[in-house]
Amino acid sequence: MFSSRDIRNTFLNYFKQQGHLIVPSAPIVVKDDPTLMFTNAGMNQFKDVFLGNRQPPALRVADTQKCLRVSGKHNDLEEVGLDTYHHTMFEMLGNWSFGDYFKREAIAWAWELLTKVYRIDPDQLYVTVFGGSPEENLNPDEEAESYWLNYLDKTRILRFSKKDNFWEMGDTGPCGPCSEIHVDIRSPQERKAVPGISLVNQGHPQVIEIWNLVFIQFNRKADGSLETLPARHIDTGMGFERLCMVLQNKKSTYDTDIFQPLIKTAGELTGHVYGTDPKTDVALRVIADHIRAVAFTIADGQLPDREGSGYVVRRILRRAVRYGFNYLGQQQAFIYKLLPVLAEVMGEQFPELKTQQHLITTVIKEEEENFLRTLEKGIARLMAFIEKEKKTRQIPGALAFELFDTYGFPVDLTSLIARENQFSVDLEDFQRHLNEQKERSRKATAREAGDWIILTDSPKTEFLGYDCLEAPVRITRYRRIKIGDKELYQLVFDRTPFYAEGGGQVGDTGYIIAGDEKVEILDTKRENELILHYAGRLPRQPEREFLAVVNRHRREAAVLNHSATHLLHEALQIVLGSHAEQRGSLVHPDYLRFDFSHFGKVTDEQLREIESLVNEKIRQNIPLDEKRQVPLADARKMGAKALFGEKYGDTVRVIRFGSSIELCGGTHVRATGQIGVFKIISESAVAAGIRRIEALTGARALEFINKKLAALKKIEALVKNPDPVAGVEHLVSQNQQLTKEIEKMRAALTEGLKQNLKKNIRHINGISFISGIVNLNSADAIKQLSFQLKNEVKNLFLVLGARVNGKPLLTIMIDDQLVKEKNLHAGTIVRELAKEIHGGGGGQPFYATAGGNYAEGLPLALQKAEEWIAARAENTAEP
Ligand code: SER
Repeated sequence: MFSSRDIRNTFLNYFKQQGHLIVPSAPIVVKDDPTLMFTNAGMNQFKDVFLGNRQPPALRVADTQKCLRVSGKHNDLEEVGLDTYHHTMFEMLGNWSFGDYFKREAIAWAWELLTKVYRIDPDQLYVTVFGGSPEENLNPDEEAESYWLNYLDKTRILRFSKKDNFWEMGDTGPCGPCSEIHVDIRSPQERKAVPGISLVNQGHPQVIEIWNLVFIQFNRKADGSLETLPARHIDTGMGFERLCMVLQNKKSTYDTDIFQPLIKTAGELTGHVYGTDPKTDVALRVIADHIRAVAFTIADGQLPDREGSGYVVRRILRRAVRYGFNYLGQQQAFIYKLLPVLAEVMGEQFPELKTQQHLITTVIKEEEENFLRTLEKGIARLMAFIEKEKKTRQIPGALAFELFDTYGFPVDLTSLIARENQFSVDLEDFQRHLNEQKERSRKATAREAGDWIILTDSPKTEFLGYDCLEAPVRITRYRRIKIGDKELYQLVFDRTPFYAEGGGQVGDTGYIIAGDEKVEILDTKRENELILHYAGRLPRQPEREFLAVVNRHRREAAVLNHSATHLLHEALQIVLGSHAEQRGSLVHPDYLRFDFSHFGKVTDEQLREIESLVNEKIRQNIPLDEKRQVPLADARKMGAKALFGEKYGDTVRVIRFGSSIELCGGTHVRATGQIGVFKIISESAVAAGIRRIEALTGARALEFINKKLAALKKIEALVKNPDPVAGVEHLVSQNQQLTKEIEKMRAALTEGLKQNLKKNIRHINGISFISGIVNLNSADAIKQLSFQLKNEVKNLFLVLGARVNGKPLLTIMIDDQLVKEKNLHAGTIVRELAKEIHGGGGGQPFYATAGGNYAEGLPLALQKAEEWIAARAENTAEP
């Protein structure tokens, strides 16, 4: 049997022999394309090559790409695990030709590899080709068909429509007809009974697509029309897990050696055996699938979070926790324990699983524990409703939605708990709430982009911003975009001093100017290798020359923070150890934020040491040593720090300040002295094992220090002591002493009051009635007094009035025996009396209070109480 390792290596070796360059997988988390959160196809990392914005690394390329499909057109998370062959994270084996070979070779090699190398029986294979599209004016792909006829009988080649056999990477961009290879893995008997040809593209779990060969020959424009591309390309993608299923003679991808070790361990950890119960099987599949998705995204730098890509990671992990909780009876975190097995299965091809294992484990464990706590709270919320609303027997859609949105309960979990309690869920109403939310978020994030208007055909922008902040530029292309309700223009220049957001550093702002026309540049971002300048409007004459001017003030402030970030990174590793690696950063003009791996809080002493190391480097005024275009291997040899999950080109830029060496595309000071001062303002936790430091530099740091000093000076003056700490300490101890004295005096006062009140007990028909207005300015003291009286006076009925902070307060205390015998309720009585003080209140049968706004009404309230008691006594005195 082929092992999955052999299958992967065989693919890569085969295409190496056909002259392909084998490249590493791109990170699974996409950082420079706002239209995509995660890599969802092997071709993503070549999108800019297809768009003509970058030269390919070679004309023929092959790889295995880690992909994630969890939403949108390509997958639905909620379905994964229910069947036996869908996944969130998967590997896509692919080969590419960039303007080199085309259909003939792609088809020949695919056939040879599958049937001769992997030895799949040709009788099990079917092929689909594009059948044409009259509305697009496209003919059937007879060319592809003619090459397939060299290998298969006509009856095994099927034509399908645009829906199945025309591949597009998005709403616009390069696309073309495709040809898919399907394999029938049913038993010979089944194949004889029902011919496989009738099951292709019919959703049969054992007649499935394994390889998609895309022939890129068109460009889809924003108006929906197609234009023929000058160069034609090949983009193929083969599902690695499915290929392993076929070659290992399994009926499910989950039965291959990729998933079985995970499923087996998850079963052992939870006390279940795979294959014995359909419900637990689904749960074990969900967990085996999701641990991969979550581990790979964390390894590439995306932690679970409240929004964006981080939220997707959180949702996937939560789904796994829920299945563990619901179907495997797991109330404790356990999924993180699968990491060693995952690293064993996949760590050879993807070493990041091994190098990052500790971090991934800690993050998953904490996330699991948090979610289990949330689940508990959600269940309590639901049970409270069920207890209270026994009559309705229905969970309203709003509550089901709240549980979904706030507590992460899918509606099936709510339904399950509801059913167990003979309740139902108003699913229609739930769906309405869900749709409303979807619509809200779609509106807020909807992006629409028009076609590029090309002025000069040179998309590559020369970046000048390392050396200058102003330059004459020309717009080479522009397009209109819409984000939510906002309409903007993206401008690309032939050369630019504007730094595009990247490496944590914010994008530059500024303006372009020509004659009397000035257009603000609101932001600068990178997308598919293009530097995009965002403008609120288009210049009147876009084709003329402009002077591009960067907002100097903002950029220079950001520069200080970027260089300080490098010094901080180094200082952290010196003080805390080499594990304190960068996990994310924000280099803003006003401050810097730096996330790094470290387990536990950084102590104040360590922070001081880190801060003073950085300031020492600043005082040494170390000059910048910048090297551009260094081959990546050389940079690594120099000991330059690189980041996980970051995509580096063949050549990189190396930034060095003495012993601090980093791969970095950001902008920096000429010498560290420019930073002036470095001041840490906070240290906190971001996630398990990840800490965050926020710090200021230059003028901002000085401002911060001065503000603190000014506050200190004020305190000095207030405490009238040149040593403010001693002054405040003195105040605090004085305060404690005074509080104690007040308490003592209050106790004495209460005692006096109590004795007075006791002297005035009126005995009415077996009730010891006490009432009075007491001079106590604390609700707590009145409460204490009432409870003391209750303990000391038999058959007590107490009504007290008081002014607490100027507001009237009524208190009623009734002896427990009286409450029972005479069926009294202090809460009801106090509410009645409160009318006199224009207020309201309530409480227990034996003790209740009421506040109000009309203190003058207190005597009347007390009188009313007395009359009420007297009247009641008369009534009860009668037989
Ligand atoms: N881009 C195609 C796909 O994702 C082939 O790689 O299916």
